Amino acid sequence: TIQPTREDKFSFGLWTVGWEAQDQFGSATRPPLDTVEAINRLSDLGAYGITFHDNDLFPFGCSAADRQREIDRLQGALKATGMIVPMVTTNLFSHPVFKDGGFTSNDRGVRRFALRKVLDNIDLAAELGAETFVMWGGREGSEYDAAKDIRGALERYREAVNLLSDYVTDKGYNIRFAIEPKPNEPRGDILLPTLGHALAFIETLERPELVGINPETGHEQMAGLNFTHGIAQALYQGKLFHIDLNGQRSIKFDQDLVFGHGDLQNAFSLVDLLENGGPDGGPAYDGPRHFDYKPSRTEDIDGVWDSAAANMQTYLLLKERAKAFRADPEVQEALQASRVAVINEPTLNPGEGYEQLRADKSAYEDFDADAYFGGKGFGFVKLQQLFIEHLLGAR
Ligand code: GCO
Ligand code: MN
Ligand code: MN
Repeated sequence: TIQPTREDKFSFGLWTVGWEAQDQFGSATRPPLDTVEAINRLSDLGAYGITFHDNDLFPFGCSAADRQREIDRLQGALKATGMIVPMVTTNLFSHPVFKDGGFTSNDRGVRRFALRKVLDNIDLAAELGAETFVMWGGREGSEYDAAKDIRGALERYREAVNLLSDYVTDKGYNIRFAIEPKPNEPRGDILLPTLGHALAFIETLERPELVGINPETGHEQMAGLNFTHGIAQALYQGKLFHIDLNGQRSIKFDQDLVFGHGDLQNAFSLVDLLENGGPDGGPAYDGPRHFDYKPSRTEDIDGVWDSAAANMQTYLLLKERAKAFRADPEVQEALQASRVAVINEPTLNPGEGYEQLRADKSAYEDFDADAYFGGKGFGFVKLQQLFIEHLLGAR
């Protein structure tokens, strides 16, 4: 086993290890977990950070004194362990008042209440030094097409994010927002269902530079999408502000499994991307490696800590394997044979435009498409097998 260190930047949501494992069909199988205990244990396991929704820390509607007491206990545990709070988020989904959403409820009073709840929570995030504020709109959506004016709802989402962006700017807070997409669950269809929808939405905002995304492995995979591709695009567009790592096995309900316990090949290419910045060493990711998973309902508290450790262990093993993959001369050879790096050469010559391209007979008139490859392939399968052999530890 590899011992995680603070430099690995592993963080966990309080709601992950703290999940009591109640689901649609059954009641809790585990007792509540105290915040201080969670922080102590995660710190011992090698994590560097803890994240939470306002109501993971203190109950909805509690008194100001009770809220403060919980914040003080959190601060005490942070101080004692050296753990930090890199991210904070708001619960706009549990209380019945949010049954039709927060920012995009059809009811205007709920929308105003939701905004106030978030403003208070941004103050708390700033106080704790969190630099990322996640917005997961789990209840923003609908079950019935006739029940929601989607364009109006997006306009209200925009209004909300613009207001919150003004707030952090005016207050001088060092906070950026990260929208977390999810296709469905708990709503039948959730707004901004994939990271691509979120990226497009962000461009319509008044301060797009303050807003990025917090993609979750399983959420993209629930939509049948390739998580590594999505993360690569987010990095390419400078929008990977945060990440939720977990495991998901195909298109079904949100499993929130341990990282790597879903699509392991995709987890391997993801770690390679986050750590090495892609085949050509493009921008890598230096933010928190945040686990948003749920210890399975079958587990007792020992199983909870085993599963927390498993997330970090799997990540570090994949990181090791990715390093070996890149360093293997046979892999380098296969990458070259597959012309993987050639994608980074511009298609046009320096200074060339469509006129010059049209004048270049070798590009078209003399280009023999039928004979071009001379029957030769790209060798992608050989490369993939090397990838698998490294993943299996066979090299
Ligand atoms: C999920 C989501 C949530 C959010 C969290 C942050 O599993 O559906 O990941 O857990 O990440 O609520 O606001
Ligand atoms: Mn999830
Ligand atoms: Mn999440």
